[in-house]
Amino acid sequence: MAIKLTINEATLQGFQGSVPRHVAVIMDGNGRWAVQRGMARIRGHHEGANAVRRVVESCRYLGVEILTLYAFSSQNWGRPQDEVSGLMTLFDLYIKKERKRLLQNGIRMQVIGDRGRLSPKLQKAIAELEARSAENTGMILQVAVSYGGREEIIQATRRIAEDALAGNLDPAQIDEALVSRYLYTQGRLDPDLVIRTSGECRVSNFLLWQIAYSELHITETLWPDFGEAQLIEAFEDFTGRQRRFGQTGAQVDDEAQVDAGHQDEG
Ligand code: IPE
Ligand code: IPE
Ligand code: MG
Repeated sequence: MAIKLTINEATLQGFQGSVPRHVAVIMDGNGRWAVQRGMARIRGHHEGANAVRRVVESCRYLGVEILTLYAFSSQNWGRPQDEVSGLMTLFDLYIKKERKRLLQNGIRMQVIGDRGRLSPKLQKAIAELEARSAENTGMILQVAVSYGGREEIIQATRRIAEDALAGNLDPAQIDEALVSRYLYTQGRLDPDLVIRTSGECRVSNFLLWQIAYSELHITETLWPDFGEAQLIEAFEDFTGRQRRFGQTGAQVDDEAQVDAGHQDEG
């Protein structure tokens, strides 16, 4: 089935660099975007939803396997009540409006976070879209809602302890792979690239375990202004990075040469 797109494909077509397999985005700056225009903060969040559509479709187009979007943190519950309820209404609206396009584009949607804190109505809408999209293989879209990295590690630790107490798990079996499976992200591939908009240089409790070796790209662009061109800029930045995972630069260069040699033989 053809992908249904509203994005500007011309901006994406010429990109020759490497596309990260897993992209994670801290979508920040909605409030400032609105305030700069004399609008209420919630208007910035609504405009941010359009940027979500652009980035979802651009990533799908470029062949990203997993896109993780930080939409609402555990700490964001502490914002003024009207902003919190406005955001909850917006999530509900987003699911209603985007459901069809997500399914048409073969996207599997999953929410990561403490969904028990969401309204029963929103939980139901999320569960329905997760179920309907479960077999899709085009791209995994993980939306972090009521999400905190520390909270995620705590719930994983609790469940690991429960399984050990119940005799289903030997503590000697606990390793990185096992811990990863108990996280909301279920042992999926870690992010290769983390993008944060609006210029803040911090991780704000996002995927603390999973971003151990992710490349970070921080842009001054506010989230509602983020689109195809800014995504390409982030991917170009990523393409120029050397990922060393603790090794020396020379070791990594040598391995790349060996890999290239194998490819020539094959
Ligand atoms: C990010 O934009 C969206 C959420 C955290 C829900 P902000 O609302 O944090 O925007 P700024 O940082 O105040 O500009
Ligand atoms: C991080 O943004 C959370 C999301 C983008 C959902 P915040 O605006 O909440 O982060 P801080 O408070 O500036 O660190
Ligand atoms: Mg912010």
